[in-house]
Amino acid sequence: MKGVLLAGGTGSRLYPLTRITNKHLLPIYDKPMVAYAIEALVDSGITDIMVVTGGTHAGEFLRLLSNGHEYGVDRLSYAYQESAGGIADALSLAERFVGDDLAFVLLADNIFGQSISPTVEKFQQQKAGARIILAKVEEEEHLHHLGVPELTSDGKVKAIIEKPENPPSSYCVTGAYCYDPSVFQIIKTLVPSGRNELEITDVNNYYIKQDLMSYDVAEGFWGDAGESIDAYYTVNDHVRRFGVNKPAVRV
Ligand code: DAU
Repeated sequence: MKGVLLAGGTGSRLYPLTRITNKHLLPIYDKPMVAYAIEALVDSGITDIMVVTGGTHAGEFLRLLSNGHEYGVDRLSYAYQESAGGIADALSLAERFVGDDLAFVLLADNIFGQSISPTVEKFQQQKAGARIILAKVEEEEHLHHLGVPELTSDGKVKAIIEKPENPPSSYCVTGAYCYDPSVFQIIKTLVPSGRNELEITDVNNYYIKQDLMSYDVAEGFWGDAGESIDAYYTVNDHVRRFGVNKPAVRV
């Protein structure tokens, strides 16, 4: 399975911090944000990774990560997104890199308390379709800024609503997505959303309509450090106090 780490975008919700650097290079406790996402993939056995980034600070990723060996990455590739056209647009740049393989796509501002390896293992067995990780969100206010799944009574995802005014559940879709290679054909059918982006939620809803979507629920902490300056500090505090990417509990 290939890893695709998405670290582009404008980071406008963290202005003015992100006027002078890329959001994913900001510190989370004692490391740059992107290092936690790399660690999450490597700890799950994914060591063939492409980082997609953009903007005027893209070169800093090379300075920080180099060939990735220091982080346990076997082969580190880079792609440059020319404008912030959305998560699905950023992913489309990894088409040739992923080839016929499965892809684990991770947003580089997402931080998980527990290892993502159970999802990696389940998707390796699933082999086709898509798999996402949901997280329980205690405060409804957060759900207005995220993708929120509508769940059926038997626990399937019926649809995902992006940034809903009336959240249909108390779960969010985290930025961890597993896809089979057909994802790249799906992206080619998308049209830009109201915010002029190719939305990953449209990709996920496509899989849901085909009945090809599975999910796991994150154990423990999950945070989107790019959601707001408060979320950024919540994630910082959590990482400093408790650490992240803890080995999965096997039952
Ligand atoms: O964090 C989880 C949420 O991420 C999900 O619940 C939402 O469904 C999903 O749409 C996304 O929402 P955001 O509004 O938080 O996405 P954002 O625009 O902040 O982008 C998240 C990451 O994706 C960002 O850290 C880098 C990458 N990205 C984003 C854009 C817009 C790119 O690489 N290129 C882009 O053009």
